[in-house]
Amino acid sequence: MLLEIPNVLGPRDLERVRGLLAGVRFVDGRASAGAAARRVKHNEEAAADDPRLRTLNELVMGNLVRHPWYQHAVLPHRLASPFYARYTPGMTYGDHVDDPIMGPAQGRYRTDVSTTIFLSGPDDYEGGELVVQTAFGPRAIKLPAGHAVLYPSSSRHHVAPVTRGERVVAVTWAQSMVRDPARRELLWELGRARDRLLARAPEAEETKQVDRSYVNLLRMWAEL
Ligand code: NI
Repeated sequence: MLLEIPNVLGPRDLERVRGLLAGVRFVDGRASAGAAARRVKHNEEAAADDPRLRTLNELVMGNLVRHPWYQHAVLPHRLASPFYARYTPGMTYGDHVDDPIMGPAQGRYRTDVSTTIFLSGPDDYEGGELVVQTAFGPRAIKLPAGHAVLYPSSSRHHVAPVTRGERVVAVTWAQSMVRDPARRELLWELGRARDRLLARAPEAEETKQVDRSYVNLLRMWAEL
C-alpha cells in the first residue's frame, strides 16, 4: 500500500526543522548504504554525530508517530531514527529495495514500511520524484513540504535525478507488529471504519461487531 499522509509537520515545526538542518553538516550518503544500494546511491546525508539530530529526530519522529494515520497504517513495533537526505542537481538514488534488516547489533529491526517526509516544497526543485513500483505500474511522488508517503520497504523504488534546486527529505523505517502488507492494508481499512463508527454511533450493534473484529484480528496477527 502506498499512503500519503498530509501535514505530518505543521508550518512552525517545519520551519524549526529547516532551521536546524541549515546548520547541519552533510556527508556522502554512500556511507550508510548496503552493498547493492551503494552503487546507485548518490546523495548527501546529515552527519550522524551532529548534535542537532536529537532535536530534529524528536520533532520529526514525534509528529510522525503521533499521527493517527501512521499508527493505523504501520502498526509500528520498532522505529528507526530518520536519515536526512539532500539532493542537489545531478544527484539521484537509482533503483533499489531498502535493506531488510537495519539498526545496531543490539537493536536490530526488520524494515516493513518505509516513510519519506518531504522537507522541501515541490517548487524548491525540479526532478527528484520518488518513484515506487507498484502492482499497477510506477507511481511518481512529490508532495508538499511537511507531507509524508509510506510504501512497503520491499518495493522497488528510486529517486529521479534532481535537475534544479535542492530536495531535502527525512527517511525512516518501521518494523510493523503485522508483517504481511496485505493484512496491514485490511487493518488500515477496517480500523478507519471502526473509528468512524465509534465516533458516529458508539452504541450501535454494528459498531461493536466491527470493533471486536478489528481488535481480535489485530490480536490474531500481531507479533511482538
Ligand atoms: Ni530506499
